[in-house]
Amino acid sequence: MTAVTGAGWLPGPPRGHRLRRAATKAELATAAASRLTDQLTEILYRRKTATIALTGGSMGEAVMRALSAHPGAVDWSRVGLWWSDERFLPAGHPDRNDTQARDAGLGRLGLDPTRVHRLPQPDECADDVHLAAESYAKDLRAAAAPGRQLPAVDVLMLGVGPDGHVASLFPGHPALAVTDLVCVGIEDSPKPPPRRVTWTLPALCQADRVWFLVSGADKADAVRRALDGPAGTRPIPAGAVTGRRSTTWWVDAAAAPPAQPTGRS
Ligand code: 6PG
Repeated sequence: MTAVTGAGWLPGPPRGHRLRRAATKAELATAAASRLTDQLTEILYRRKTATIALTGGSMGEAVMRALSAHPGAVDWSRVGLWWSDERFLPAGHPDRNDTQARDAGLGRLGLDPTRVHRLPQPDECADDVHLAAESYAKDLRAAAAPGRQLPAVDVLMLGVGPDGHVASLFPGHPALAVTDLVCVGIEDSPKPPPRRVTWTLPALCQADRVWFLVSGADKADAVRRALDGPAGTRPIPAGAVTGRRSTTWWVDAAAAPPAQPTGRS
């Protein structure tokens, strides 16, 4: 098991959240993909490599489709890719997040395969979801700077469930309380499939920029609760995740809160 050291994670209310609105899900995906392209271009101008973490869900797929429509916009060979959670299913299973990303166009980006870090599948770790979590934590540590447990993640994208779950951290689940590990295995996810691997809250909060990608009226309540929860509380998992540099909520009209939230600091 791998402990998070130097996590820099402090419990507390969301701070410095930004809201980016689009009318429709398609426009939201296009806007997020366009901003990601600009962000990665800026980073790759200054550094040799950039790192992002992908999300599952239909918004993750929509953003991947938008990115893969313009593969030349970024030098993807210098971009590292991780997944913040995965369904513990065989390779190629249609419900795996990496399969859905592949089918949405990941393969067209021109990534360096050595920089694409899929979560283990059952036959790679004795069908043990906890071993899979440990194995991924080791991969993350191997890519991290000396003394760190995680690589610097420039942009972490997260879908949000109607219940406010992010990655595979569900409201009320014991995995939410884990603060000394980077990844955990789950055997009883309330949303199928039951077996998953997920980054923990402190690991998610290590990303420089956290982007929530949220579409649909069924998520409006989760967005409102994450942004308007009473100060000092973490009403739902999404409300507990903040980026080290920024936290941005990309929402379509159906998911958006009625008014721009007042700034928090
Ligand atoms: C899962 C889903 C889930 C998803 C959100 C948002 O692991 O069961 O992937 O976490 O990301 O429910 O889904 P949409 O992007 O489709 O709104």
